[in-house]
Amino acid sequence: PRKIFSGIQPTGSLHLGNYLGAVRPWVQLQNANDDVTVCIVDLHSITMPHNPPQLRENIFVMAATLLACGIDPAKSTLFVQSAVREHAEFNWILSSLTTMPRLAQLPQFREKSRLVKDVPLGLYVYPVLQAADIMLYKATHVPVGEDQLQHIQLAQHLARTYNGRYGETFPICHAIIEESEASRVLSLRDPSKKMSKSDGNPKATINLADSPDLIAQKIKKAVTDFTSDISYHPGQRPGVSNLVNIHSQVTGQTIKSVVDEATTLDTAKYKERVAEAVVEHLRPIREQIEHHLTRRNEMIYLLEMGAEKARQQAQRTLDDVKQRLGLGTSP
Ligand code: TYM
Repeated sequence: PRKIFSGIQPTGSLHLGNYLGAVRPWVQLQNANDDVTVCIVDLHSITMPHNPPQLRENIFVMAATLLACGIDPAKSTLFVQSAVREHAEFNWILSSLTTMPRLAQLPQFREKSRLVKDVPLGLYVYPVLQAADIMLYKATHVPVGEDQLQHIQLAQHLARTYNGRYGETFPICHAIIEESEASRVLSLRDPSKKMSKSDGNPKATINLADSPDLIAQKIKKAVTDFTSDISYHPGQRPGVSNLVNIHSQVTGQTIKSVVDEATTLDTAKYKERVAEAVVEHLRPIREQIEHHLTRRNEMIYLLEMGAEKARQQAQRTLDDVKQRLGLGTSP
């Protein structure tokens, strides 16, 4: 049976890219009866300078958002990473199974380490902690965006190294990456880039918690080109094609039917239509986020139930690991 695991940093609200590219596929897997575990990776979020009250708030906002998007704690395991101590402990153990040059060459480390003057050790071992997340639950499939591919390859390398030294224990996990053009949601300000939370321009991303007015404004200002008709040519016309793609994703219509319906519209009118469709799709999600945020005790309870389920699996894995490595004294 497949065992699905994925993680997401508590960065506050999700943007449309995370939602369409990551969270919605998790919900689809969950609803197809796969065994899904979703982890809010707060330990990863302290590897860059952070603000403690903001982090705490962001954990709640992320939990509320995941619940609002359809992660169902009755079907899936949803928990906060730091609530399960085994993640940090296993990170330590795995850190002896790889080398410093291997970590130094990972693209995300190279990018992020440029942003700080003195590079924290945590940023360096970040992908080892990510491998620990995956391996503790013996995950077989890890749905992620393509920016995470190298991290998944490190997890595969660590599983192979471990199995070779201490005996067959961990499955070699597969990344599930939405390969289609359609899973790439692009920046509204610069359609040569992906929509990203680290984008300096807030108009470039649509957040799930944005008000309908703000969403309409951002789509109205989206960068397109000087041709006014609507077509789907991601190569030549990335801006308009990105809107067509978003439109098709939120309505569930095919690209072709979206384009056919827009033949009489110019770009300005079409943007209004896309904005309406996005607002309509996000409305119930936004309402649910608000709903969950006013019931924090319920969320705390749900997350603790999730952590308890996770802990049982994690402890079982780690007990076996300690046994095989000769750690401790238990027979
Ligand atoms: P994070 O929190 O940066 O992003 C969460 C997920 O969203 C995907 N993503 C996108 N997909 C499509 N289009 C976009 N524009 C877009 N932007 C982001 C990311 O690829 C990711 O899948 N290191 C991970 C978190 C993590 C993890 C794990 C993931 C920690 N432990 C174990 C899987 C398994 C991260 O920073 O994701």
